[in-house]
Amino acid sequence: MKFNGSDQYVATPDLMLAVNAAITLQRPLLIKGEPGTGKTMLAEEVARALKLPLLQWHIKSTTKAQQGLYEYDAVSRLRDSQLSGVGDEKVKDIRNYIVKGTLWQAFTAEQPVALLIDEIDKADIEFPNDLLRELDRMEFHVYETRELVQARHRPLVFITSNNEKELPDAFLRRCFFHYIKFPEAETMRQIVEVHFPRLKKDLLAAALKSFYDVRGLPGLKKKPSTSELLDWLKLLLAEDIPLSALQSQDDKVAIPPLLGALLKNEQDVTLFEKLVFMQSRNR
Ligand SMILES: Nc1ncnc2c1ncn2[C@@H]1O[C@H](COP(=O)(O)OP(=O)(O)OP(=O)(O)O)[C@@H](O)[C@H]1O
Ligand SMILES: [Mg+2]
Repeated sequence: MKFNGSDQYVATPDLMLAVNAAITLQRPLLIKGEPGTGKTMLAEEVARALKLPLLQWHIKSTTKAQQGLYEYDAVSRLRDSQLSGVGDEKVKDIRNYIVKGTLWQAFTAEQPVALLIDEIDKADIEFPNDLLRELDRMEFHVYETRELVQARHRPLVFITSNNEKELPDAFLRRCFFHYIKFPEAETMRQIVEVHFPRLKKDLLAAALKSFYDVRGLPGLKKKPSTSELLDWLKLLLAEDIPLSALQSQDDKVAIPPLLGALLKNEQDVTLFEKLVFMQSRNR
């Protein structure tokens, strides 16, 4: 198994190396990077390229590690026992009320699978620690049935984080780590071409220049990312914005049309407008 990029996802050589290292080591690949730099999509594309089914577990602030293993549905069991009596065969067997979580499904799948644990930093601090053994030994106990669930095949695990919380050292030790750096102009051009193959070269160049100008503005609270650039380009094309609207007369920064696709809060917009205003006064 080796990942060599895909037709829909632009992977830099160091990213491909990281994916292949995680495959070789059989360790989870922990991917960090700014929002919108293709962390989630990486898991989807690697799974697609390696022809592995992808099981996804999207983490929220309320998600508990146990939910990825299994949950005991006591409420249904109680209801069934009230409806059909405690003597009922289904009610007697507790296994009928154990709901398998994503990890269990990944462990017991017939064929090797890829598993995405998306946005692990959203959960509370105990969450990664609670999954150490499961991700390391790929097994866990079901206390209600005294059963040991072991992985038939080690799943290829992707874990993404936006760095909202630090991850514990013991957890990090078990992962291979990769930080997706914000793409440079050339990589970005390739990414845009994947999404808009027929975009004119000069429009793309002008749009990229405006985009990196906006991104380079010091003091921005939220820098626009790849997905924002793609949204913005989609709008430029839909609105048929002419090339001239993107180009300023000289090297100075101009206010690009549809700025709301790139800057998402009022302080950033004000900051940007101030800069453009100051530059125009200096002319
Ligand atoms: N390398 C890339 N090649 C092709 N498309 C990309 C690439 N990176 C990002 N994109 C585009 O950007 C969009 C956002 O990517 P994705 O959702 O994977 O980001 P993310 O890093 O998971 O963001 P978040 O942290 O907000 O979840 C994707 O839908 C895809 O269209
Ligand atoms: Mg994501």
